[in-house]
Amino acid sequence: MHRYTAVVPPGLERLAAREIRALGGGIGKTSADAGRVYFEGPADAGMRANLHLRIPERILLPLGRVRARHFEPLRLALSEMPFERWLPPGLPLRIAVSTKGCRLFHTDALEDCVREALVTRGLRHAAPGEDKTKALLTVDLRGQKDEWICSVDTTGRPLWRRGYRLRTARAPMRENLAAACLMAAGYDGGPFLDPFCGSGTFPIEAAWMASHRAPGLDRPFLFESFAGHDPKRWAELIGKARAAITADPPVEGSDRSQGGVQAARENAKRAGVHIRLIRRRVADAPAGRPPGFIVCNPPYGKRADLAGDEAPTEDPTEAPSEDPTEDATALWASWGESLRAARPGWNLAVVAANPELAKAFGARGKPLLRFRNGGIPVALWSAGA
Ligand SMILES: C[S@@+](CC[C@H](N)C(=O)[O-])C[C@H]1O[C@@H](n2cnc3c(N)ncnc32)[C@H](O)[C@@H]1O
Repeated sequence: MHRYTAVVPPGLERLAAREIRALGGGIGKTSADAGRVYFEGPADAGMRANLHLRIPERILLPLGRVRARHFEPLRLALSEMPFERWLPPGLPLRIAVSTKGCRLFHTDALEDCVREALVTRGLRHAAPGEDKTKALLTVDLRGQKDEWICSVDTTGRPLWRRGYRLRTARAPMRENLAAACLMAAGYDGGPFLDPFCGSGTFPIEAAWMASHRAPGLDRPFLFESFAGHDPKRWAELIGKARAAITADPPVEGSDRSQGGVQAARENAKRAGVHIRLIRRRVADAPAGRPPGFIVCNPPYGKRADLAGDEAPTEDPTEAPSEDPTEDATALWASWGESLRAARPGWNLAVVAANPELAKAFGARGKPLLRFRNGGIPVALWSAGA
């Protein structure tokens, strides 16, 4: 059995833990700290996690932990960690150090400690940047209140960077956050609409989930250059993941911005999904019969966003009122009403930064999820079926 750490966006630990347990195949119990979910599994669990998980940002292999308030015990503990079990010598290597509430906090000195330990273990690596064509191996040293964990990164490019979103519209949501919202809303793979789709993140993630497309297909991972990597098993896992893909469900995205819809179309093409993406205002959403899901993040309510997006260019005399909150509340209320009227019986979930706007939209009960989007605390609310 190996131990793994999934780095996840704070607030999504429970949902990510559930996603990890659902991988099965010998992955059982999970435990969590802020931004981390720990799990154990067989040798191929790291590959499966990287290939299939939609919420985590990366998967680390912890090598060891130590409590240290001075450099000497940290150095000693690091020199006893089995880096050579995973890291091949020679490749460019980066050391990522993060500290919180530790007596030792000098990043350069902490990096030196890790480099010395690597040399003690018989490993010499090129400094990053010397050969950009090769994988950039990463050792992660994280200190929290003098408790240090040193891990090897198995992922590389963060998992939320799926690779399809080269174009973004205004205020895009990270792919893993959009996937988490879909899961928390209970999306079941059926008909889907995002009437504020911007660059298409929600509809594309919905189509990938519904068609069982593993998000880690068609991208490289650091574990592929690890010592002892099992390319045969990796090829098997990829083959199985490809065979599991089913047809796209009826997924639709719309946005009033032409630029947004254009970006969404290009992204959907790169993602290999066939979904309907059209330019339309939310008030014009056509009727649809249940069942179905709407999950969306309307503009958060900054005056500039709302005015820029909503003030109808067809009627330049209709200036926004002087009170931006009043504007926003009325708009959000009308959006919620339009959507419930057009799609009665559909599950409706909305991401909002402001609980008052969420309530105006029709949010009920407590948020389904709380997290940060672009540095802003936001919540996902159920707003009716
Ligand atoms: C926060 S962004 C959504 C970002 C999107 N989830 C993504 O990941 O790219 C809000 C979007 O709502 C659109 N929008 C604003 N008012 C609208 C309206 N009345 N009808 C339809 N779309 C609107 C904006 O053009 C913008 O793309």
